[in-house]
Amino acid sequence: LDNGLARTPPMGYDTWNAYHCNYDAATLMGTAKAMKEAGMLELGYEYIYPDDCWLAPERTADGKLQPNPYKFPYGLKPVIDYIHSLGFKFGIYNCAGTRTCAGFPGCYGHYDECAQQFAEWGVDYIKFDWCNVPFADYPGLNHKEVAKILYSEFRDALNRTGRPIVFSMCNGWDPDVRPWEWASDVSNLWRTTMDIADNYDVMRDRYEQNILHGDKAGPGHWNNPDMLEVGNGGMTTTEYITHFSLWSIMAAPLVIGTNVINMSETTKYILTNKEVIDVNQDSLGIQGFRVKHDIAQDIITKPLSDGDVAVVLFSANGGGVINTTIDEVFMDPSYPAYVLRDLWSHNETTVLKKIAAYVDAHAVAMYRIRPGKPSDAPPHHVIYWDSNP
Ligand code: DGJ
Repeated sequence: LDNGLARTPPMGYDTWNAYHCNYDAATLMGTAKAMKEAGMLELGYEYIYPDDCWLAPERTADGKLQPNPYKFPYGLKPVIDYIHSLGFKFGIYNCAGTRTCAGFPGCYGHYDECAQQFAEWGVDYIKFDWCNVPFADYPGLNHKEVAKILYSEFRDALNRTGRPIVFSMCNGWDPDVRPWEWASDVSNLWRTTMDIADNYDVMRDRYEQNILHGDKAGPGHWNNPDMLEVGNGGMTTTEYITHFSLWSIMAAPLVIGTNVINMSETTKYILTNKEVIDVNQDSLGIQGFRVKHDIAQDIITKPLSDGDVAVVLFSANGGGVINTTIDEVFMDPSYPAYVLRDLWSHNETTVLKKIAAYVDAHAVAMYRIRPGKPSDAPPHHVIYWDSNP
């Protein structure tokens, strides 16, 4: 959507993966404080928002949405003000249907009032879900057609508020909606998959789905393979590094979904890797694409604005040596040599043409490749060095 927002993939925090419905004002404020202290705001994690379940079960007597009084005893305002005072932006969640997925009041039939109310509260981002949609009001239309109508209406309602609000559509988990086919002028991001879960196979499946739609992503309009599970305990450290690397190279929104108030040093180390985030946030906004894909090995490449290229070598099943070349990953082949900077170990190696690395099962090697001098190629460094370019 060309509203001047989300020129790079949105980054932030959503409560769903860590807490589902079990959070309150203190959770959100504590999250903002912890993220600030961890330097996450400076790294780009900007939008903080409650997902489903922030609402009271019913609207006010005069028809307005209101927060759950047990979770937000002083209302949302002090929470929003606190989050803004730290320098973050505040997001909100609601739904295109009559009720949210967890059964709280939705915006259907009240799109202008909802948008207006959110704008008055100082909302900067909205995730708009897709449950309890009264399809009977649209006889003869399929889910995709109804989604187009409703989300375009809500886009217009947001526009009428005059406040810059990032619009995140959450309807791509319905396999009939296929938002990547129509949403680039409706929203800033859209889901390409069903919900993620905190395990390797599901994470890998969401990657497999999302990578297919790379041609649809760009500044202002992004594919979203769902929020991050890094830190939640269902994957190994290796798998979480893989998850974060894949999301980064796919120019996917980086929305944290773990308890950051008590996060481990390992979780923080993964989520705050600036060199990996820089690949995700590159201004060209190209979604990384696959140049090789088979049962065991994927090679994903992402051209960057300064002429460098980011590459992920991914052993999706068993471990093994992954081979590629400068040409295969779309690096300008006219230089005499290249420096491979490993974005996780931060080591550098110079190669002439060939790239080879041993990559463990479920792991990645992630590099940023830039032009180098042949004299830097270390002849002793067998795994990366090739004498016959
Ligand atoms: C479905 C969405 O896909 C999830 O991300 C989450 O927002 C839930 N709904 C909340 O009910």
